[in-house]
Amino acid sequence: MTKRVVLAYSGGLDTSVAVRWMMEEWGVEVICVLVDVGQDVESSESFDDIRARALAAGALECVVVDARTEMAEEFCARAIAANGLYEGKYPLVSALSRPVIVRHLVAQARHFGAHAVAHGCTGKGNDQVRFEVGTHALAPDLEVLAPARNWGMTRADSVDFAKKWDIPIKATKEKIYSIDENLWGRAIECGAIEDPWAAPPDEPYTLTRVTKLEPVELTIRFEAGVPVALDDEPMRLADLIESLNARAGATGFGRLDMVENRRVGIKSREVYECPAALALILAHRDLEDLVLERDLHHEKSRLEPRWSELIYDGMWFSPLKEALDAFFVETQRHVTGEVRVRFEAPGLMRVVGRRSPQALYDHGLATYDADDTFRHADSEGFVRIFGLGVKTWAARQGAKNATPPAS
Ligand code: ARG
Repeated sequence: MTKRVVLAYSGGLDTSVAVRWMMEEWGVEVICVLVDVGQDVESSESFDDIRARALAAGALECVVVDARTEMAEEFCARAIAANGLYEGKYPLVSALSRPVIVRHLVAQARHFGAHAVAHGCTGKGNDQVRFEVGTHALAPDLEVLAPARNWGMTRADSVDFAKKWDIPIKATKEKIYSIDENLWGRAIECGAIEDPWAAPPDEPYTLTRVTKLEPVELTIRFEAGVPVALDDEPMRLADLIESLNARAGATGFGRLDMVENRRVGIKSREVYECPAALALILAHRDLEDLVLERDLHHEKSRLEPRWSELIYDGMWFSPLKEALDAFFVETQRHVTGEVRVRFEAPGLMRVVGRRSPQALYDHGLATYDADDTFRHADSEGFVRIFGLGVKTWAARQGAKNATPPAS
């Protein structure tokens, strides 16, 4: 029986060529899986058009999976709980969508009795790592194939290959940017961006073009760490993210320009636009400031970068990541309340207010006014004992630290 491969299909040049190339070179049957993770398919193209391209390339079948809700409620929600920012900045846009896709690849591989899954990534990026490690975590028996890592074709060769096989691609031999997008934002690489000194060009941005000059103020409501309403309008998380992408993006908020460390040892300059992701993480963090007890809050903050690294490195399905999630779930029990945010063009966001029935902020303890309830006298003994070790140490050292440097 001819072997079957299930390919993660995007509709772009590489994955379209991969269908025919694997058939010709490896003699396999190819089933495509097109996972909707909230990517904004260019309006001229529907998922039906993309599916038709997969079939024209020779796929036996192309399954379209709607995973928008799953992406939001399982993956983005966990990223919010973890305040997930890789290297303190990048909200893991592509990294979050890969495990969603992997899960559907594996499910379809089982359904079609495939021996392998495949992806269209090259050998230089993180996404190959995420597809492969993710697949092995869910299905240790499945092979993972990476045709684009093997074929040695340039982009121009791929365009010729597509022509030769009558694959109806829209790509041309010159491609400027490599763009990956989903509900959580857009990642843009290549072209002029490869020079880290060059200011990023305006043209690849779509979510963050300034169309609204007046400030936009919004109230985001969280329940147990999950955003549930915008300006008192209850929304499913996927819709809330989409709405916030539009409303915050219109003021130019959400752009990132960074040099990041890829898992494969390469430093690369990338730009991103992710208005909703950044706004939700900033708002969520602010609410945590109000409701989390100090030690819990500090410990959580120490674990967040580790979680983000794991996700970036393709370890969504891994024991440490699961254990950290269990910890974060516990921390979110009281993260309920509202955060008021203000966006001002171009690209500024500030949290201007927060409130919660679970707030640990106590006005009587915090105020300097007459209704102060704090027992000032208690501080005297507390501070004396708190500083006792240092005082003892200083007495041994003499006054050596007390002399300011000569100017
Ligand atoms: N550097 C980002 C990451 O590894 C984005 C990669 C996106 N891929 C792309 N073709 N633009 O998560």
